[in-house]
Amino acid sequence: MSKGTRVGIVGAGNVGATVAYSLAMQGSCHEIILRDNKIDVARGKALDMSQAASAVRSHTVVSVAEDISDLTDCDVVVVTAGSPRLPGMSRDDLLMINANITKEVIVGIAKYSPDAIIIMVSNPLDAMTYVALKESGFDRSRVIGMAGILDSSRMASFIQEKLGYGGGQIRASVMGGHGDDMVPLPRYSTVAGVPLTDVLSDKEIEEIVTRTRHGGAEIVGHLKTGSAYYAPAKSTSIMVEAILKDTKQIHPCAVCLEGEYGYKDVVSGVPVMLGANGAEKIIEVTLNDLEQDMFKNSCASVQELIDSLNKNKFFGDK
Ligand code: 2OP
Repeated sequence: MSKGTRVGIVGAGNVGATVAYSLAMQGSCHEIILRDNKIDVARGKALDMSQAASAVRSHTVVSVAEDISDLTDCDVVVVTAGSPRLPGMSRDDLLMINANITKEVIVGIAKYSPDAIIIMVSNPLDAMTYVALKESGFDRSRVIGMAGILDSSRMASFIQEKLGYGGGQIRASVMGGHGDDMVPLPRYSTVAGVPLTDVLSDKEIEEIVTRTRHGGAEIVGHLKTGSAYYAPAKSTSIMVEAILKDTKQIHPCAVCLEGEYGYKDVVSGVPVMLGANGAEKIIEVTLNDLEQDMFKNSCASVQELIDSLNKNKFFGDK
């Protein structure tokens, strides 16, 4: 019997558990292994999900890694571990706390699942993807951040709300970092192929752009004790499935740029082709002057976080 597909999920909080649930319900892999410091919570959720999988006749088994050393031979590992973003806290406030958590987790993944593709979900997303890349020593194609699918889905849903029609037919495009200066691209957004600019006014589009940029904070404002998880988790499971099924489909994801778009050694959200080898290709979209300026600002914000990690000697002598 060939080896089944194995997905590790580090952090069994709302996002991690919902990624696991979504994959288990779809039967997207043979095994899901949950890892969380709150081991009883992970045990309870794994049992609950395995039972749900049986209910829908899915073959996926959900188990628990008692220790990071149990996270062996995974094809994909999703990292959601980190302190959550609480009301009033910017994504960037989380920088040092989550960089240290990420470092510890990534060192374990690199050791016990050296062939895995890592999907980063912890915030601040782009900086944590950079930390994971540096600490794993993996090729950049195997360390990918989740955010573009989420931000594009939020934009699509705001477009649908504004239009009152077109549900399921909207393709919205967002590039750049997962921060307040992300780059929504109305010029590359369509409703059943019809350009957004043909169906909405400039003012309406501007409102959608602004709301998209603050889409995460809007939900934090309602939930008060935590942040969004259904859309972040679904976006993550879409990436896992694209990799496991080797779909070669294009999705906006955070990757380390090495010359693309004119940037080097900084992580940003760009369209990438996802397949069995991870981010197999980076697509370079033509941006106009305004879009290039916005992308530059967004990359500069991520660079500031990386600089701050370097200033704090986070990366040591590597
Ligand atoms: C979000 O955008 C908190 O980054 C998370 O929902």
